[in-house]
Amino acid sequence: MQQDILQNKRILLIIGGGIAAYKCMQMIRDLSRRGATVRCVLTRAAKEFVTPLTVAGLSGEKVYDQLFSLTDEAEMGHIKLSRDADMLVVAPATANIMAKMAHGLADDLASTLLLATDKPVLIAPSMNVRMWLHNATQRNLHQLLSDGIYYVDPNEGTMACGEYGPGRMAEPFQIIEKIEQVLAVAKPKTLPETFRPMQTKLEGRHVLITAGPTHEPIDPVRYIANRSSGRQGYALAEAAVKAGASVTLVSGPVDLAAPANVKLVKVKTALDMQKAVNAALPADIAIFAAAVADWRVAKSAGQKLKKTGEAPNLTLIENPDILKSISHMQDGRPELVVGFAAETENLNENAAAKYKRKGCDIMVANDVGLDKNVFGCEENTVHIIDKNGFENWPKSTKSEIAVKLMALFAERLK
Ligand code: CTP
Repeated sequence: MQQDILQNKRILLIIGGGIAAYKCMQMIRDLSRRGATVRCVLTRAAKEFVTPLTVAGLSGEKVYDQLFSLTDEAEMGHIKLSRDADMLVVAPATANIMAKMAHGLADDLASTLLLATDKPVLIAPSMNVRMWLHNATQRNLHQLLSDGIYYVDPNEGTMACGEYGPGRMAEPFQIIEKIEQVLAVAKPKTLPETFRPMQTKLEGRHVLITAGPTHEPIDPVRYIANRSSGRQGYALAEAAVKAGASVTLVSGPVDLAAPANVKLVKVKTALDMQKAVNAALPADIAIFAAAVADWRVAKSAGQKLKKTGEAPNLTLIENPDILKSISHMQDGRPELVVGFAAETENLNENAAAKYKRKGCDIMVANDVGLDKNVFGCEENTVHIIDKNGFENWPKSTKSEIAVKLMALFAERLK
């Protein structure tokens, strides 16, 4: 029998000061029942919502709330407390905690632990809808994601304050599901030899992204297409522009608004897409997230095809492989070329073979079998293939993946 991934795991749960703090009580029980040790830290505000006594009773562990407590420092210093865990979870992650994390403040035990840790950190935001949607919070979230923090999207619903919208903390089972996914894949952070944040690396760089499907005409009213929604490519464009890059987004027909400050080039066919990509060069990073149709109709009809009693014979010819041609450019090749591999079976083998065949630097693979609900959906599960091998990432929203991917790409730039 497969062992429960939570068995013997040490979770450091930082409880923030929000009404959703009560949900942590359920989470502590569920995690403990599954064999995890949950050590809790309460912020000053959290103690207004739940008592240290309840938390200690449920977790069976000492509860920590003071940065400068001599006995705690003697028993366990704050560095050790943060390093002893397999993972840190912040729930509810208030707007204030997120802002502190984004700016690296360390003025209490919780924020100091978060700054000192080398372990994966998951936040479960919870706040009033206006606070959640505020530019400052969204900016902080973006910063946290690019710093490698994981998050569980808040749910939409009626809030304690009576307003309606996104901002309710995810339910304990949703947070636990994400904890399992992060534990399954995340590695402890190692300190890079030279560290430069994504912003510095992408500032002023040109990022070229293809997105969406292509439409290959059969006649003036019919075309061959695929299920791509363009969401992942658009999310990448948004992440890149927010990190200071200048972004050209070459997009097939989709129902999405272009992110602000992105240069959008709309195309329909694979041939148009190829032309637009070539015209947009040079670029520092070229990301091929589009689902380009592999074939086009050799000669599309000038007028609408009429039924004749016999099905028409459509001769298909192969479209140019845009990713492959850019990967193999002799002069002016972008410093980093990234491909996407959408597979419905044998993901690892197919994607690894595609990585070699296309000649790109990084291949982002995902399983798009219809049962995986990827097309048109908010979430995705990706796997990174590069010269170092294969790395699995946890299931996340497409925007979270986009920010993390851009941070990874930025890291690879010289
Ligand atoms: N791609 C491209 N031009 C094409 C076909 C694909 O630029 N004519 C790019 C896609 O944008 C993606 C990668 O190549 O980054 C892989 O696309 P995919 O459709 O998965 O691969 P194919 O080469 O078409 O292989 P197959 O359809 O056989 O799986």
